[in-house]
Amino acid sequence: MGGMSTEPDYSQGAAYVRGRYVPIGEAAIPLTDWGFLRSDATYDVVTVWEGAFFRLDAHLERFLASCARFRLDAGRPAAQIAGILEQCVRLSGLRNAYVEMIVTRGQPPWGSRDPRQAANQFYAFAVPYVWIANEAQRAQGLHLVVSDVQRIPAQSVDPRAKNYHWNDLTMGLLGALDAGGDTVVLTDGAGHVVEGPGFNVFCVNAQGTVVTPAHGVLEGITRRTVLEMAQALGLPLQVRDLPAAELRAAREVFLSTSGGGVLPVTRVDGQPVGDGAVGPVVRQLVQTYWDWHRDPRLSRPVNYETSDGGSVA
Ligand SMILES: Cc1ncc(COP(=O)(O)O)c(C=O)c1O
Repeated sequence: MGGMSTEPDYSQGAAYVRGRYVPIGEAAIPLTDWGFLRSDATYDVVTVWEGAFFRLDAHLERFLASCARFRLDAGRPAAQIAGILEQCVRLSGLRNAYVEMIVTRGQPPWGSRDPRQAANQFYAFAVPYVWIANEAQRAQGLHLVVSDVQRIPAQSVDPRAKNYHWNDLTMGLLGALDAGGDTVVLTDGAGHVVEGPGFNVFCVNAQGTVVTPAHGVLEGITRRTVLEMAQALGLPLQVRDLPAAELRAAREVFLSTSGGGVLPVTRVDGQPVGDGAVGPVVRQLVQTYWDWHRDPRLSRPVNYETSDGGSVA
């Protein structure tokens, strides 16, 4: 087929790598990027649902705040980042997408170990929407295991800056899967639950109050949406330490994440939560979460047309 040029296939996703758009399968970073060698990076994930970004501004704001906390430079303002993310989605043609932006430390000149001399790098990609729980788990609820693994302390790695320090989360998850659970929540070493691999955790406690941990967690954008929904629905709410014992005795338990929104938990450590069925508060929050995707104050439509008026995908 000499000389024939084939159009790149973006249908599995599109990435922006050091100034170029490439199909997701071709997206790669240099082995020497400290993002890989040292997990020295920050990132954020925003979703596209039915052709519109959900809470894009909130994700961009958190992303730039994460960069500042880790002394990383995204090299471009929020509006330009938004443009790159939109182009990744446009190229892929995906109507439901998981859209990630990343800044890595890059690498300093050869021989230097001074992070200040590293040229930070910006990457982004759009792939099909990612669900943290499968369809059956979303219908019936997840089995959550409270891990003995302690989440890396906030004094060591600031959990409010979204990061790739996931060894604690991954080891905890492996232990939970070995124990027959679906997923895991880590603790703070003082008997409180904090967060799990890719989600915040909530309960509706025995008094009917919605509770989520205040400290030691990423301030999830979905967590923020849940807090706003609880206020809008008039649900009693407390953001404070959440003892594992209170979680185990709760009426309802759920997770919040960009990877699926509000996800029900119906078993904790092998024991049913309440009567073991998905409860009324969780049902109401799931419904409201998806309803709010139609609110133009929170959703921003993706422009799938190219500048010449044609569709790229
Ligand atoms: C450790 C951790 N906690 C919580 C969350 C939830 O954050 P968000 O609701 O912004 O997706 C995530 C992200 O997916 C995460 O990685």
